Amino acid sequence: MSKNILITGASTGIGAETAVCLAPGNHIYLHFNNSKQAAEKTAEKVKSKGGKATLLQADLSQEAGCRKLYAELTKTADKLDVLVNNAGGLIKRQAVREYQWSLMEDIFSLNTFSAMMVTSLCIPLLEKGTDPNIVNLSSIAMRHGGPTATIYAASKSALDSFTRGIAKELAPAIRVNAVAPGVIITPFHDNVSTPEQIKAWSEATPLKKNGTPMHIASTIKFLIENDFITGETIDVNGGLSMR
Ligand SMILES: NC(=O)c1ccc[n+]([C@@H]2O[C@H](COP(=O)([O-])OP(=O)(O)OC[C@H]3O[C@@H](n4cnc5c(N)ncnc54)[C@H](OP(=O)(O)O)[C@@H]3O)[C@@H](O)[C@H]2O)c1
Repeated sequence: MSKNILITGASTGIGAETAVCLAPGNHIYLHFNNSKQAAEKTAEKVKSKGGKATLLQADLSQEAGCRKLYAELTKTADKLDVLVNNAGGLIKRQAVREYQWSLMEDIFSLNTFSAMMVTSLCIPLLEKGTDPNIVNLSSIAMRHGGPTATIYAASKSALDSFTRGIAKELAPAIRVNAVAPGVIITPFHDNVSTPEQIKAWSEATPLKKNGTPMHIASTIKFLIENDFITGETIDVNGGLSMR
Protein backbone atom coordinates (compact mmCIF):
# COMPACT_ATOMS: atom_id res chain seq x y z
CA MET A 1 0.00 0.00 0.00
CA SER A 2 1.28 3.45 -0.90
CA LYS A 3 2.61 5.44 2.05
CA ASN A 4 2.38 9.20 2.48
CA ILE A 5 5.85 10.28 3.65
CA LEU A 6 6.77 13.82 4.70
CA ILE A 7 10.51 14.55 4.68
CA THR A 8 11.60 17.97 5.89
CA GLY A 9 14.76 19.42 4.33
CA ALA A 10 14.58 17.10 1.34
CA SER A 11 16.12 19.47 -1.21
CA THR A 12 19.73 18.35 -0.62
CA GLY A 13 21.94 15.90 1.27
CA ILE A 14 20.44 13.26 3.56
CA GLY A 15 16.82 14.38 3.06
CA ALA A 16 17.09 14.24 -0.75
CA GLU A 17 18.73 10.79 -0.67
CA THR A 18 16.04 9.55 1.74
CA ALA A 19 13.30 10.83 -0.58
CA VAL A 20 14.75 8.85 -3.49
CA CYS A 21 15.38 5.77 -1.34
CA LEU A 22 11.76 5.72 -0.10
CA ALA A 23 10.23 6.70 -3.46
CA PRO A 24 9.15 3.40 -5.04
CA GLY A 25 5.36 3.12 -4.75
CA ASN A 26 5.06 5.95 -2.23
CA HIS A 27 3.91 9.59 -2.17
CA ILE A 28 6.81 11.74 -0.98
CA TYR A 29 5.94 15.15 0.44
CA LEU A 30 9.24 16.83 -0.22
CA HIS A 31 9.85 19.90 1.88
CA PHE A 32 12.47 22.57 1.09
CA ASN A 33 13.22 26.10 2.22
CA ASN A 34 15.59 28.03 -0.10
CA SER A 35 16.84 25.37 -2.52
CA LYS A 36 13.90 25.22 -4.96
CA GLN A 37 15.93 23.99 -7.94
CA ALA A 38 17.55 21.21 -5.93
CA ALA A 39 14.14 20.22 -4.57
CA GLU A 40 12.74 20.06 -8.10
CA LYS A 41 15.65 17.79 -9.11
CA THR A 42 14.95 15.52 -6.14
CA ALA A 43 11.26 15.42 -7.14
CA GLU A 44 12.26 14.28 -10.65
CA LYS A 45 14.40 11.50 -9.16
CA VAL A 46 11.51 10.42 -6.91
CA LYS A 47 9.25 10.18 -9.97
CA SER A 48 11.86 8.24 -11.95
CA LYS A 49 11.91 5.67 -9.11
CA GLY A 50 8.14 5.18 -9.33
CA GLY A 51 7.10 7.57 -6.56
CA LYS A 52 4.80 10.55 -6.48
CA ALA A 53 6.34 13.86 -5.38
CA THR A 54 4.69 16.96 -3.93
CA LEU A 55 6.89 19.96 -3.15
CA LEU A 56 6.20 22.04 -0.03
CA GLN A 57 8.12 25.23 0.80
CA ALA A 58 8.48 26.63 4.32
CA ASP A 59 10.98 28.18 6.73
CA LEU A 60 10.72 25.78 9.65
CA SER A 61 12.80 27.91 12.01
CA GLN A 62 9.59 29.88 12.68
CA GLU A 63 6.31 28.67 14.10
CA ALA A 64 4.47 30.29 11.19
CA GLY A 65 6.57 28.27 8.73
CA CYS A 66 5.74 24.99 10.52
CA ARG A 67 2.04 25.89 10.40
CA LYS A 68 2.34 26.84 6.70
CA LEU A 69 3.93 23.46 5.95
CA TYR A 70 1.11 21.64 7.74
CA ALA A 71 -1.56 23.71 5.97
CA GLU A 72 0.00 22.93 2.56
CA LEU A 73 0.34 19.24 3.44
CA THR A 74 -3.32 18.87 4.38
CA LYS A 75 -4.41 20.29 1.03
CA THR A 76 -3.70 16.87 -0.51
CA ALA A 77 -2.86 14.48 2.35
CA ASP A 78 -5.68 12.97 4.39
CA LYS A 79 -3.26 10.70 6.31
CA LEU A 80 0.45 10.49 7.03
CA ASP A 81 2.35 7.21 7.45
CA VAL A 82 5.86 8.56 8.00
CA LEU A 83 7.33 11.85 9.16
CA VAL A 84 11.10 12.35 8.79
CA ASN A 85 12.21 15.43 10.76
CA ASN A 86 15.43 16.01 8.84
CA ALA A 87 15.70 19.80 8.24
CA GLY A 88 18.57 21.20 10.27
CA GLY A 89 22.03 22.68 10.28
CA LEU A 90 24.89 23.93 12.39
CA ILE A 91 24.37 27.54 11.14
CA LYS A 92 27.55 28.97 12.69
CA ARG A 93 30.39 27.92 15.00
CA GLN A 94 30.85 29.99 18.15
CA ALA A 95 33.14 29.67 21.16
CA VAL A 96 31.38 29.35 24.52
CA ARG A 97 32.90 32.63 25.77
CA GLU A 98 31.22 34.49 22.90
CA TYR A 99 27.70 33.08 22.97
CA GLN A 100 24.94 35.30 21.67
CA TRP A 101 21.33 34.71 22.64
CA SER A 102 20.17 35.17 19.06
CA LEU A 103 22.44 32.37 17.76
CA MET A 104 21.23 30.02 20.53
CA GLU A 105 17.65 30.81 19.51
CA ASP A 106 18.38 30.32 15.80
CA ILE A 107 20.09 26.94 16.28
CA PHE A 108 17.46 25.56 18.65
CA SER A 109 14.62 26.89 16.46
CA LEU A 110 15.98 25.17 13.37
CA ASN A 111 17.08 21.85 14.88
CA THR A 112 14.77 21.28 17.85
CA PHE A 113 11.66 23.49 17.91
CA SER A 114 10.91 22.86 14.21
CA ALA A 115 10.84 19.08 14.71
CA MET A 116 8.77 19.44 17.89
CA MET A 117 6.25 21.74 16.22
CA VAL A 118 5.93 19.78 12.97
CA THR A 119 5.52 16.57 14.99
CA SER A 120 2.83 18.09 17.19
CA LEU A 121 0.90 19.38 14.17
CA CYS A 122 1.15 16.08 12.27
CA ILE A 123 -0.10 13.74 15.02
CA PRO A 124 -3.77 13.74 13.91
CA LEU A 125 -2.68 12.87 10.35
CA LEU A 126 -0.26 10.20 11.59
CA GLU A 127 -3.05 8.63 13.66
CA LYS A 128 -4.82 7.95 10.36
CA GLY A 129 -1.74 6.25 8.82
CA THR A 130 -0.65 2.61 8.68
CA ASP A 131 2.10 1.67 11.20
CA PRO A 132 2.70 5.40 11.51
CA ASN A 133 6.16 6.41 12.64
CA ILE A 134 8.53 9.33 13.00
CA VAL A 135 12.29 9.44 12.41
CA ASN A 136 14.27 12.38 13.80
CA LEU A 137 17.73 13.38 12.62
CA SER A 138 20.00 13.76 15.61
CA SER A 139 23.81 13.92 15.35
CA ILE A 140 27.05 12.40 16.56
CA ALA A 141 27.64 15.86 18.06
CA MET A 142 25.21 15.03 20.87
CA ARG A 143 27.39 12.04 21.87
CA HIS A 144 30.60 13.96 22.46
CA GLY A 145 29.99 17.61 21.69
CA GLY A 146 32.52 19.34 19.49
CA PRO A 147 34.40 22.54 20.26
CA THR A 148 32.55 25.59 18.85
CA ALA A 149 29.59 23.41 17.82
CA THR A 150 28.20 22.90 21.30
CA ILE A 151 24.97 24.86 20.82
CA TYR A 152 24.19 22.64 17.82
CA ALA A 153 25.21 19.52 19.82
CA ALA A 154 22.88 20.56 22.65
CA SER A 155 20.02 21.16 20.21
CA LYS A 156 20.47 17.62 18.85
CA SER A 157 20.65 16.20 22.41
CA ALA A 158 17.31 17.85 23.07
CA LEU A 159 15.91 16.27 19.92
CA ASP A 160 17.22 12.89 21.07
CA SER A 161 15.53 13.28 24.45
CA PHE A 162 12.34 14.43 22.69
CA THR A 163 12.49 11.23 20.62
CA ARG A 164 12.39 8.97 23.69
CA GLY A 165 9.82 11.08 25.50
CA ILE A 166 7.28 11.05 22.71
CA ALA A 167 8.03 7.41 21.84
CA LYS A 168 6.59 6.57 25.27
CA GLU A 169 3.81 9.16 25.05
CA LEU A 170 2.61 8.07 21.62
CA ALA A 171 2.98 4.26 22.00
CA PRO A 172 1.42 2.02 20.88
CA ALA A 173 -0.14 4.17 18.15
CA ILE A 174 2.94 5.89 16.70
CA ARG A 175 6.58 4.74 16.78
CA VAL A 176 9.34 7.32 17.16
CA ASN A 177 13.05 6.77 16.49
CA ALA A 178 16.16 8.75 15.61
CA VAL A 179 19.31 8.39 13.58
CA ALA A 180 22.52 10.07 14.77
CA PRO A 181 24.78 10.48 11.72
CA GLY A 182 28.52 10.88 11.96
CA VAL A 183 30.33 12.99 9.37
CA ILE A 184 28.31 12.74 6.16
CA ILE A 185 29.48 14.56 3.06
CA THR A 186 26.64 16.96 2.16
CA PRO A 187 26.17 20.75 1.75
CA PHE A 188 25.80 20.80 5.58
CA HIS A 189 29.58 21.26 5.83
CA ASP A 190 29.93 23.94 3.12
CA ASN A 191 30.26 26.96 5.41
CA VAL A 192 31.02 25.38 8.78
CA SER A 193 33.79 22.79 8.24
CA THR A 194 37.19 23.11 6.55
CA PRO A 195 38.61 20.45 4.17
CA GLU A 196 41.29 19.84 6.83
CA GLN A 197 38.62 19.13 9.49
CA ILE A 198 36.76 16.78 7.16
CA LYS A 199 40.00 14.88 6.42
CA ALA A 200 40.90 14.71 10.12
CA TRP A 201 37.46 13.28 11.03
CA SER A 202 37.85 10.62 8.36
CA GLU A 203 41.28 9.65 9.71
CA ALA A 204 39.94 9.52 13.30
CA THR A 205 37.11 7.19 12.27
CA PRO A 206 37.83 3.48 12.90
CA LEU A 207 36.42 2.63 9.43
CA LYS A 208 38.75 5.32 7.96
CA LYS A 209 36.14 7.16 5.93
CA ASN A 210 33.33 9.68 6.18
CA GLY A 211 29.77 8.66 5.33
CA THR A 212 27.47 9.24 2.38
CA PRO A 213 23.79 10.27 2.47
CA MET A 214 22.88 6.69 1.48
CA HIS A 215 24.38 5.36 4.75
CA ILE A 216 21.74 7.42 6.57
CA ALA A 217 18.85 7.00 4.11
CA SER A 218 19.12 3.20 4.33
CA THR A 219 19.03 3.39 8.15
CA ILE A 220 15.94 5.62 8.07
CA LYS A 221 14.30 3.07 5.73
CA PHE A 222 15.17 0.25 8.16
CA LEU A 223 13.59 2.12 11.09
CA ILE A 224 10.46 2.86 9.07
CA GLU A 225 10.06 -0.79 8.09
CA ASN A 226 10.78 -2.50 11.45
CA ASP A 227 7.57 -2.28 13.49
CA PHE A 228 9.20 -3.58 16.71
CA ILE A 229 11.53 -0.62 17.23
CA THR A 230 10.58 2.55 19.07
CA GLY A 231 12.43 5.04 21.28
CA GLU A 232 15.80 4.14 19.72
CA THR A 233 18.61 6.23 18.33
CA ILE A 234 20.87 4.46 15.85
CA ASP A 235 24.44 5.76 15.53
CA VAL A 236 25.78 5.61 11.96
CA ASN A 237 29.30 6.98 12.12
CA GLY A 238 31.93 4.41 11.12
CA GLY A 239 32.72 3.80 14.79
CA LEU A 240 33.69 7.41 15.54
CA SER A 241 31.59 7.54 18.73
CA MET A 242 32.72 4.11 19.96
CA ARG A 243 33.85 4.08 23.60
N1 LIG B 1 26.01 16.03 7.16
C1 LIG B 1 26.42 15.68 8.37
O1 LIG B 1 27.63 15.45 8.60
C2 LIG B 1 25.42 15.55 9.48
C3 LIG B 1 25.86 14.97 10.67
C4 LIG B 1 24.95 14.82 11.72
C5 LIG B 1 23.65 15.25 11.57
N2 LIG B 1 23.24 15.83 10.41
C6 LIG B 1 21.86 16.27 10.34
O2 LIG B 1 21.23 15.69 9.21
C7 LIG B 1 20.18 16.55 8.74
C8 LIG B 1 20.33 16.76 7.24
O3 LIG B 1 21.55 17.43 7.00
P1 LIG B 1 22.37 17.32 5.63
O4 LIG B 1 23.71 16.85 5.97
O5 LIG B 1 21.58 16.61 4.61
O6 LIG B 1 22.49 18.88 5.27
P2 LIG B 1 22.00 19.74 4.03
O7 LIG B 1 22.32 19.06 2.74
O8 LIG B 1 22.55 21.10 4.28
O9 LIG B 1 20.40 19.76 4.18
C9 LIG B 1 19.76 20.54 5.14
C10 LIG B 1 18.30 20.67 4.77
O10 LIG B 1 17.67 21.46 5.79
C11 LIG B 1 16.90 22.48 5.17
N3 LIG B 1 16.84 23.71 5.97
C12 LIG B 1 17.87 24.48 6.37
N4 LIG B 1 17.40 25.56 7.03
C13 LIG B 1 16.04 25.48 7.01
C14 LIG B 1 14.99 26.28 7.49
N5 LIG B 1 15.21 27.44 8.15
N6 LIG B 1 13.72 25.86 7.31
C15 LIG B 1 13.47 24.71 6.65
N7 LIG B 1 14.42 23.91 6.17
C16 LIG B 1 15.69 24.29 6.33
C17 LIG B 1 17.61 22.77 3.85
O11 LIG B 1 16.66 23.34 2.95
P3 LIG B 1 17.04 24.39 1.78
O12 LIG B 1 18.40 24.03 1.30
O13 LIG B 1 15.96 24.16 0.78
O14 LIG B 1 16.98 25.76 2.37
C18 LIG B 1 18.07 21.37 3.44
O15 LIG B 1 17.06 20.72 2.73
C19 LIG B 1 20.28 17.83 9.57
O16 LIG B 1 19.33 17.79 10.61
C20 LIG B 1 21.70 17.76 10.14
O17 LIG B 1 21.79 18.48 11.34
C21 LIG B 1 24.10 15.99 9.36
